[in-house]
Amino acid sequence: MKLFDEVYYVGGCDRSQTLFENLYPIQGMTYNSYLVLDDKNVLLDTVDWSVGQDFLKKIQAILGEKSLDYVIVNHMEPDHAATLELVLKAYPKATLVATAKALAMVPQFFEGLDIRDRSMAVKEGDLLTTGSHTYQFILAPMVHWPEVMVTYETKTKALFSADAFGTFGDYSGSMLAKDYDFASDWLPEARRYYTNIVGKYGVQVNAVLKKAAALEISALCPLHGPIFTENLGQVLEIYGKWANYQPEEDGVLICYGSIYGHTKEVAERLSEELRKRQVKTCLYDVSTTDASWLVGKAFEYSKIVLASVTYNGALFPKMEYLANELKAHNLSGRTLAFMENGSWGPLSVKLLRGLFENTKNTILEEKVTIKSSYHEENQAELEALADALAK
Ligand SMILES: Cc1cc2nc3c(=O)[nH]c(=O)nc-3n(C[C@H](O)[C@H](O)[C@H](O)COP(=O)(O)O)c2cc1C
Ligand SMILES: [Fe+2]
Ligand SMILES: [Fe+2]
Repeated sequence: MKLFDEVYYVGGCDRSQTLFENLYPIQGMTYNSYLVLDDKNVLLDTVDWSVGQDFLKKIQAILGEKSLDYVIVNHMEPDHAATLELVLKAYPKATLVATAKALAMVPQFFEGLDIRDRSMAVKEGDLLTTGSHTYQFILAPMVHWPEVMVTYETKTKALFSADAFGTFGDYSGSMLAKDYDFASDWLPEARRYYTNIVGKYGVQVNAVLKKAAALEISALCPLHGPIFTENLGQVLEIYGKWANYQPEEDGVLICYGSIYGHTKEVAERLSEELRKRQVKTCLYDVSTTDASWLVGKAFEYSKIVLASVTYNGALFPKMEYLANELKAHNLSGRTLAFMENGSWGPLSVKLLRGLFENTKNTILEEKVTIKSSYHEENQAELEALADALAK
């Protein structure tokens, strides 16, 4: 599939796997790879095994008798590099171009693959000219692994951005973002992908965004999801927000962990109190909503309330998982508040406060404690919490 200029899409979409990284629920995932023709022909990244079956065929169909001269690997993670050995064996004259850190990983993944006489280690700012196209290499450590770089091509002004600007989801018919609706088709899954996969590395993402701001970019070509050729400002702006842990929505995300429904009822009552105060809310059950969605929602909303039953002297396990995930993804700049339930010794507020105490979030003093179920005497605490959140 031709994208623009002499840039072809040779990636694919997997619709059979239900978990990405064997962890995140997905409905389809694209693994992008790009072939650029010129005096010397270049492949930018390879693909996951799940779409590896017809990968070589796609390359061969475009190249025909022409040679493949360079394989640029921006990221060595197997969701992209699993088929690297296949390509290098099919095209023994191709030179592998990557950072020294990426080249060091090649023998870790491919024991028998000898790249000594066919690899080129590149550093920040290095250039590779293949005719009318010139590739500039830009290091992007920890977006998402330490060996990552992104590649800017000066003729097309395309930024091959590795996992940055990637998204979960199934794209077909067109790989160009302009053929989809940004807010409904792309944004929710892009947010969930970004926050869960690279959300932890805001500092490093910012460093790359800064380097990108100095370039004139006409196309953003990530390794997952659609390719942006229009409204690039909108995409860069939303990533800037995520990288700086700035909320998109002024409102309260309420997540509850409840077994028999009493904690759920209190969470719903809080949501009603907030709506009475003109505060936007959304409410999720941690048992039925995958934590990856809630991590995404937590990056979207400015305030977060976690409500949990006490469970065997600890947090409800699904709540504990979510709370640890939020912390592990460096969630910052949020207002946090907690609610707890316990039939004999409620502990959730103390445990949640302890978990978030050394994070860059504001923890409200106001909290709600119920004993087994909601009673009229809980109303004052509930309203005080709603007032504090509405401020
Ligand atoms: C397996 C189990 C363990 C529990 N452990 C505790 C506990 O350690 N301390 C406590 O105060 N309540 C404990 N509870 C009671 C719950 O925290 C809570 O009061 C009850 O599930 C009602 O809330 P819900 O309707 O939201 O589930 C436990 C409940 C269950 C089912
Ligand atoms: Fe990755
Ligand atoms: Fe990836």
